[in-house]
Amino acid sequence: MGATASSGVGIRLVRCAKTFQDTRVLEPLDLQIEPGETLVLLGPSGCGKTTTLRIVAGLEAPDAGGQVWFGEDDVTRLPIERRHVGMVFQSYALFPNMSVRENVEYGLRVRRVDAAERRRRVDAMLEMTEITELQHRSIDQLSGGQRQRVALARAIAPQPRVLLLDEPLTALDARLRENLRTEIDRLLRRLGVTAVYVTHDQAEAMALGDRIAVMDQGRMAQIGTPQAIYFEPANDFVASFIGTLNVVADAFGAGRTVAFRPEDVSLVPAQDATAAAPERAVGPLGRVSASFFLGDHARVVVELPPPTTPGLRAPGLGHDAAGQAVQRVTARVAPRLAPRVGDAVRLVVAAGALRDLSKDLP
Ligand SMILES: Nc1ncnc2c1ncn2[C@@H]1O[C@H](COP(=O)(O)OP(=O)(O)O)[C@@H](O)[C@H]1O
Ligand SMILES: [Mg+2]
Repeated sequence: MGATASSGVGIRLVRCAKTFQDTRVLEPLDLQIEPGETLVLLGPSGCGKTTTLRIVAGLEAPDAGGQVWFGEDDVTRLPIERRHVGMVFQSYALFPNMSVRENVEYGLRVRRVDAAERRRRVDAMLEMTEITELQHRSIDQLSGGQRQRVALARAIAPQPRVLLLDEPLTALDARLRENLRTEIDRLLRRLGVTAVYVTHDQAEAMALGDRIAVMDQGRMAQIGTPQAIYFEPANDFVASFIGTLNVVADAFGAGRTVAFRPEDVSLVPAQDATAAAPERAVGPLGRVSASFFLGDHARVVVELPPPTTPGLRAPGLGHDAAGQAVQRVTARVAPRLAPRVGDAVRLVVAAGALRDLSKDLP
């Protein structure tokens, strides 16, 4: 079908930096995006995601020396209207004086696609984004989620070589965000179009990205599959930006600093005998200092004794209510199994889930 005809051109950024009025907001970066791939740019506000996306789009030129390639074409000097990209923004940027159908049709009219082909493609787009029954409405009669569907349909109707999405779901409420996220994922896979998706939301990045590029203050902190980013974070910034990473010293073997994720922890009542075994590492006794019921799971904060080995890295070090030094860890447990605040518990972690930081993390 027509909508898949344009799929997949590779994108390459070569030494792309960006300076605004003497301020370097993007350090020179190289980035390769495979044909048909969805790459997510993930990072906190202000780290340079939108600037990177705008360089790909042609809305911003990289500093001298930077290059942007679409497949075999050097598009560095090509303005946006000649790059054949589709864009979807956080704010819908739809034409308020046109109907849904006219909005979706707009890009095809600009490209002088003939009427029959236009009708066929608009029908296909409306159907694909499930807004056929809204086609004669005006934009102000639509909900936020419906507007974003129109924006998507409008962006993909002209069969762009590249689809660029800048926080398209950020303005929507949580449930809608999750639904639309699933549909965008399906749509991107079905179209096979090369896509760059900007978000500050790690769950969205995990769900949508074939690969994720984590950005930190104008630099690429790590690029990899969601699994690689989550389980093998390249540094502390990535580890803490992508969910929670517990880091404790002396708790699982003297002289060792280890890291583990909250979902890899089980909490055993203090009186239960639990022996260490090849498949599990048994930690010290701790005390529950907080417990949050979150519906499908509970997050439990446990305070462990402080390290005794001098000089060990122990970023979780703090003080309990009585002013005693403790190391805090977070466990994610089934809500019905969550211990209460004040309970004494023993930490048990699947052995394969413990990462020894005595060596790698800086
Ligand atoms: N046109 C501009 N002029 C000056 N500074 C800018 C401009 N656009 C972005 N910036 C700055 O560049 C940095 C990165 O911005 P941006 O790429 O929008 O970040 P993000 O999308 O990750 O939130 C920010 O500090 C921002 O204030
Ligand atoms: Mg932005």
